[in-house]
Amino acid sequence: MTFVLHQDPFTPFDQSPSRDLTGFSPMGFYDEMIPAAPSDEFRHRVGTKPLDVSRWLPDDKESAPTIAMKRELLVSRREEVVAIHEGGEGAATEAARLVGDFKGVTIEAEGLDALIDAALLVPDDLTVLAPRVAANGEEQLLFVAGVVCSPSRWRLNTKMGKDMLATHQPVARYGEHIGAPVDTLLRRLTVDRPLWRSNWTLEDHPALFQPEPPEKPLGVAADQLWIRMERETLRRLPNTGGVLFTIRGFQQSLPDYVGGSPERARTLYALIERLPEDVARYKSIFAYREAVLGWLRERS
Ligand code: HEM
Repeated sequence: MTFVLHQDPFTPFDQSPSRDLTGFSPMGFYDEMIPAAPSDEFRHRVGTKPLDVSRWLPDDKESAPTIAMKRELLVSRREEVVAIHEGGEGAATEAARLVGDFKGVTIEAEGLDALIDAALLVPDDLTVLAPRVAANGEEQLLFVAGVVCSPSRWRLNTKMGKDMLATHQPVARYGEHIGAPVDTLLRRLTVDRPLWRSNWTLEDHPALFQPEPPEKPLGVAADQLWIRMERETLRRLPNTGGVLFTIRGFQQSLPDYVGGSPERARTLYALIERLPEDVARYKSIFAYREAVLGWLRERS
């Protein structure tokens, strides 16, 4: 995995940008995604909120370049960005139709082809879960299909057919903090109460398409780091009983994110400082922590 250092979120991590970046600056994050100052010690939180369906998959100035990037990846590296598990076709078709209906487009295809058609209508990545009865008689939701062009250092094809605990296996403290609550939330998700949540991390490369971490930290200076956030939505699929989980990635350089705001610098400082070592390592913040905290302290 050779990372090419560049400044373009829409160029894969291992390629040099071919587009002209003059005048480009990332749009930043929706206000409601910005993490609040923590009041206690670190715990992963489920943190879901009700989703206003009229704003399900919003269109913005990064939609077009994100969809163009997806189109390119679907041609040049298809095996890295699409996957389907045996028996996932029905839920994938139903998920695709839901996106098509939202965009006012009829999707005729079935299964993975339908999901690809849907994924090209929106900037968001589409992942699909379907219910299966486990050996103990309990119903579980398994990850059965996806079109994922903005993976934050994970590989789609390693997740197929897995339940939520196994899908999140590399996430330090996931099982301990939110394993059971996520399963309960997914079991109880209803068609008329869709949800959304967001998360954040710090990365040393801005590419939306980063299916693996670098072998070792890229060694950039603190002011060359990027804040990466995801806006994720959850919708129950009424016919198959599956779930459509969408993921939209955004990134902004640390200096642009903090801007001139001491409050932002203080909040980020508190969020980063309290991370336990294993979580900081998972988030690839560990190697940069002291440098970033110093940089933020000067701006607080
Ligand atoms: C309310 C539901 C969910 C919660 C609270 C949740 C929580 C999380 C958290 C905290 C992380 C680590 C992010 C970070 O710290 O940088 C994560 C990563 C991830 N999540 Fe979820 N998640 C949820 C649902 C899902 C669903 C439905 C899927 C898939 C269909 C999924 C797939 C993933 C994957 C693939 C990763 C990256 C894992 C890796 O590094 O290999 N999540 N999730």
